[in-house]
Amino acid sequence: GQGTSRKKGGYDLVVVSNRLPVDFTVDEDGGVQWQRSPGGLVTALEPVMQEADGAWVGWSGAPDLDHEPFEADDMLLVPVALSASDIERYYEGFANDTLWPLYHDVISPPTYHRQWWDAYRRVNQRFAEAAAAQAAHGAVVWVHDYQLQLVPKMLRDLRPDLRIGFFNHIPFPAVELFQQLPWRTQIVEGLLGADLIGFQRGGDASNFVRSVRRLTRHTTRGPIISVSDDDGGPGRRVRAAAFPISIDSRHFDELARTPEVQARAKEIRADLGDPTVMMLGVDRLDYTKGIRHRIKAYGEILQDGRLDVEHCTLVQVASPSRENVGAYQELREHVEGAVGRINGEFGELGHSAIHYLHHSYPPEEMAALYLAADVMLVTSLRDGMNLVAKEYIAARSDERGVLVLSEFTGAADELAPGPLLVNPHDIDGMKDIIVTAARMDPREQRRRMRRLRRKVMADDVAKWSQSFLGVLTAMPPRTTHV
Ligand code: G6P
Repeated sequence: GQGTSRKKGGYDLVVVSNRLPVDFTVDEDGGVQWQRSPGGLVTALEPVMQEADGAWVGWSGAPDLDHEPFEADDMLLVPVALSASDIERYYEGFANDTLWPLYHDVISPPTYHRQWWDAYRRVNQRFAEAAAAQAAHGAVVWVHDYQLQLVPKMLRDLRPDLRIGFFNHIPFPAVELFQQLPWRTQIVEGLLGADLIGFQRGGDASNFVRSVRRLTRHTTRGPIISVSDDDGGPGRRVRAAAFPISIDSRHFDELARTPEVQARAKEIRADLGDPTVMMLGVDRLDYTKGIRHRIKAYGEILQDGRLDVEHCTLVQVASPSRENVGAYQELREHVEGAVGRINGEFGELGHSAIHYLHHSYPPEEMAALYLAADVMLVTSLRDGMNLVAKEYIAARSDERGVLVLSEFTGAADELAPGPLLVNPHDIDGMKDIIVTAARMDPREQRRRMRRLRRKVMADDVAKWSQSFLGVLTAMPPRTTHV
């Protein structure tokens, strides 16, 4: 690293995301400690960041933490401070109680609050200014996800010299839903400040282009949007396209091959009483993940006597998430109630129907769980990609295990026909497929897993970031007025 000698404003690549890739804790004497949080995005971007003189702008995750930029792992980390009220209105409110449910096809009703919108604009402006202050002349700035959709335009207004990319990690809804948003036009114009707008699926990109056509006067041709400026100038060309995200497949594959993880997987099965079939669900405790539908189907399968707790068990890891948002609190009540009822009704001494774990675990433990599981259940009602599905595949170099995957995930678009696809709304259909998965013979498991592994091992997250940045930097320089 070049220590603190780099001058401010000298970074050739600036990443902007709601969260920084570190966790902060404030110790007793007010000193700030940070720890790397091993997210997928940071593994993807670290190599490019280190090579390119990179800075990362984001929130620490704690309220009112005003901290100077600092060097870590050869990147400059630039904390953006959020007050308790910003967290309530911008993060819990507009991002996670307006945009999140709206973009996931209104599975839960979105709340539209003008105060939240005001906070969203203010906080987006703060992120845009922080990025503008770090970027070198002509630098590439890559903005991430639904929390920051106004940043591309705000940044372009501050720094027209920059090359700006945006990637939306979650779905982009059909215009018929999107148009509920009172600030839909501002959001579309905010995104169009970018040169390249990336989505998980082709369907998300075309939903966005349809919204542009419906809600603005800009013209579109295929994936290209011509953004006219107010004084009728020639305008800019913006591209909207799919760049399906992935995981660090090789790293996960290697982790799952270590003797420690292999031994831990055996130990997990033994602790569960060596069931014939261990099923596994791994999700943030979020209403988009279809956890209730999954548990309902599983309970009915036990009820019908098609599987029994002596031979079969379900481990459900539900990591705590967004716990101050009402819809998440309600979901937790529902899930925990259903788990309690099913365990009460079908469990026996030494045999729980469902092992419910409201925790998050380090990657080593996740890899061991994946290895231990005969059937992986991913039953999201709507999901941008779903990386749990890809992690499961990367962990299974033994070519065993069955992936049950919802049609409503980005991963289904990419991975079909390897997984058993389900419509989680169709409880009877899902029950049949779960039972099929539990009974699948090893040859069929291998045939499917091989096909899945070919795909996931080849298309890893490094390829994803290279392909996005490759397209972004290859775009012709924008048209300027003479
Ligand atoms: C999704 C979003 C991310 C978000 C993550 C965790 O994957 O696409 O932007 O960071 O969920 O949610 P949280 O609210 O805890 O950041």
